[in-house]
Amino acid sequence: MKPKTIIEPFKIKSVEPIKFTTREEREKLLIEAGYNPFLLRGDDVLIDLLTDSGTSAMSSKQWAGIMNGDEAYAGSKSYYRFEEAVNKITQMEHIIPTHQGRAAEKILFSIVGGEGKYFPNNTHFDTTRANIEFSGAVAEDLLTEVGKHPEERADFKGNMDVEKLEKFIKQKGVENIPLCMITVTNNSGGGQPVSMQNIREVKKVCEKYSIPLFLDACRFAENAYFIKLREKGYENKSVLEIAQEMFSYADGATMSAKKDALVNIGGFLAMNDDELAMQCSNLLIVTEGFPTYGGLAGRDLEAVAQGLEEVVDEHYLEYRIKSVEYLGNKIVDAGVPIIEPPGGHAIYIDAKRFLPNIAPDKYPGQAIVCELYLEGGVRAVEIGSVMFGKYDEKGKLIPAMMELVRLAIPRRVYTQSHIDYLIEIIIEVYKNRDKLNGYEITYEAPMLRHFTAKFKPLS
Ligand SMILES: Cc1ncc(COP(=O)(O)O)c(C=O)c1O
Repeated sequence: MKPKTIIEPFKIKSVEPIKFTTREEREKLLIEAGYNPFLLRGDDVLIDLLTDSGTSAMSSKQWAGIMNGDEAYAGSKSYYRFEEAVNKITQMEHIIPTHQGRAAEKILFSIVGGEGKYFPNNTHFDTTRANIEFSGAVAEDLLTEVGKHPEERADFKGNMDVEKLEKFIKQKGVENIPLCMITVTNNSGGGQPVSMQNIREVKKVCEKYSIPLFLDACRFAENAYFIKLREKGYENKSVLEIAQEMFSYADGATMSAKKDALVNIGGFLAMNDDELAMQCSNLLIVTEGFPTYGGLAGRDLEAVAQGLEEVVDEHYLEYRIKSVEYLGNKIVDAGVPIIEPPGGHAIYIDAKRFLPNIAPDKYPGQAIVCELYLEGGVRAVEIGSVMFGKYDEKGKLIPAMMELVRLAIPRRVYTQSHIDYLIEIIIEVYKNRDKLNGYEITYEAPMLRHFTAKFKPLS
């Protein structure tokens, strides 16, 4: 018999205590943080679901790799191990290490971006959008229609709308679209996967117009596992084979290794185009470091290489995907509205349905985020009009497409009892939702404002 209980596929060798605080203490701490949990001290958080990025627990083999790191400035053996590990999955010609995902984006879009250029994606992540816009170019989201409806269940809600892509290319002109991207899984759209069929169809359109296709591959392994579970013809393939096929349709990739490489820092740019790779390497030398370390220490490269081997393990991925699903299903059963079905790395609470009486310009997601902290010391993040809202010429807020609260689950960090505690807290906040009020922004930076914004509760 196959046991129904899916266990954490690891033993715990080292533990880190977490600090308990009282509600009164948290009220004070939240005021000091301007009602922005990004500005809290990590130490004052009990369960930290701000991000799954760089928060993974490393394995004993990764820690051993840290000791084995070769810190040679040029040609370090750790680079070659890293290159081999990335190449095994992406099978791309040029592998350029960067200190994290946005550094890869910055280099890429500094070269191919600029005024008059357009970059389509299923949904750009905030740093991708920011790097594109910073170059003067336009970032366009072309998510499939079903992906915009949180309450609808579908297998691949991260897909790109292929028809819209072709229309977009014709409208903006091939010469103005240096590359097209697909983000796997689609973080800003609910951690939803993209099907192999969709990647293939997007590639076909890109090929027709000679536009290179790049993957934003932060969560390639989670995406590949969803394909194995949900897409016909892939059930008997290994996750590695599926990942290799995903990358086979791409001409390049950016990756923040802080997700599916199970490390605390790192990233890379990978591509096949020799000329573009040379330009990227040259810029890397100016901004990150020599091409065999790219802003990382040799030990970090070792940890990435080892993490990439571990992440395609199917016991790990089964535990990963099922534990996120467990959380999602339990809160759905209690009536909490989320993006359905549960995503790969996070649960996204649908703040519009959770708090229908708080308008987007009063930031319902922020109200939930603050209350989760006050109720149980849980830190989550708003992914809605705080993160993606824009202003029109009159200074009126143009709300984001969705108002979400993301509960991102760090990899291999929390056990089932942490998740059960979290479920209790979310349900309690949901029961008391009528008592919640909106927020107003009292300070904001010109870009990526959610990181440093300050808020005031409305009464
Ligand atoms: C889809 C996606 N792309 C890019 C990034 C940026 O990566 P980093 O935080 O390593 O700069 C992230 C980070 O969360 C992401 O989720």
